[in-house]
Amino acid sequence: MPSLSKTTPASDGLPECDAGVLERTAPLYEKVRDVVPEAEWPLHAPLVDAINRLKIERNAVILAHNYMTPEIFNCVGDITGDSLRLAQVAAEAEQDVIVQAGVHFMAETAKILSPDKTVLIPDLEAGCSLAASITGEDVRRIRAAYPSYPIVTYVNTSAEVKAESDICCTSSNAVQVVEAVARQWGTDTVIMIPDEYLAKNVASQTGVRILTWKGDCEVHEKFTRAEIEQLRIEHPDAMIITHPECPPEVLRAADFAGSTGAMSSFVAEHRPAKAILITECSMSDNVAVANPGTQFIRPCNLCPHMKRITLRNIYEALRDLRFEIDVPAGVAQRARVSLQAMLDLPGGCKPPAFDTSRPETRADYVSV
Ligand code: 13P
Ligand code: SF4
Repeated sequence: MPSLSKTTPASDGLPECDAGVLERTAPLYEKVRDVVPEAEWPLHAPLVDAINRLKIERNAVILAHNYMTPEIFNCVGDITGDSLRLAQVAAEAEQDVIVQAGVHFMAETAKILSPDKTVLIPDLEAGCSLAASITGEDVRRIRAAYPSYPIVTYVNTSAEVKAESDICCTSSNAVQVVEAVARQWGTDTVIMIPDEYLAKNVASQTGVRILTWKGDCEVHEKFTRAEIEQLRIEHPDAMIITHPECPPEVLRAADFAGSTGAMSSFVAEHRPAKAILITECSMSDNVAVANPGTQFIRPCNLCPHMKRITLRNIYEALRDLRFEIDVPAGVAQRARVSLQAMLDLPGGCKPPAFDTSRPETRADYVSV
């Protein structure tokens, strides 16, 4: 158990660290000791302890995305996973309060799927470059220009954008959604917005023609093929595992690609001696906790939006029941149809992978 070298000062009514806190949180520290420095634990422990007590008092559940820092993901998250898993759980949550330890579109998704619950986001500014790349008005213009093609919208979008769409997808089910909706509409062409790279990566996995939008994830667009090739030279024994929000040439240079949930399952199943996760930084920490036998090389990029969520603002969210997500009823009702269409598709037992050996296929941009 880490010791208290000096009393951690309480400020702004935050809980203090004492020997009782350290004792109660010691089993949680054991889980994360390889990725959270011992000197930092007295700062985290009182918040972890208070959050876990407040959750019971408030009848709350914390949904923590795979990109949360390890002390959030492992020590206060009740349900953890990728965007699809968190949406599925939000739709069925029994608690009165859902705290989204993730970004704004995830909290909106939870509210749309569980309208009677109090849904909280610890920081309202936790956005997403993909969600910011497109508006409801943009989708209305796309619809007017291409009335006979279905619109598949990535969950990384606002409620208003989802409301203008036919069906949502996540990186976990994007190929399946595109193929299902093409069949339903009897078309060979589907519009998939707003992530151009996810759309191009899906295009390479299916015969369906895809038209897309020029939105990008500011975390994954930074990775380059040259960087992956250099990593391959430096670590020839490592499994290179990437996310489909990366450019297609990055996927082609990798061993595996899939949603954050699929990346995690791949490591658990294959137990590589060395792995490189081409994605947001906290992901390696969290997968490392679950897979102590694997060594992780970390050429990661930070998501500034995910990193706005901290133990402190989760504590404040639960203490003050803030910041509550509200989606106007009309928008929520139409967005729910798109989300539900996705959730109603039959799911497999594990998130599917992208075949990184398939050649790149063209995906053109919508012209509006
Ligand atoms: P998934 O967890 O669904 O793979 O999404 C990754 C992401 O970037 C979420 O913002
Ligand atoms: Fe958005 Fe990318 Fe951050 Fe995910 S990692 S929230 S897609 S900017």
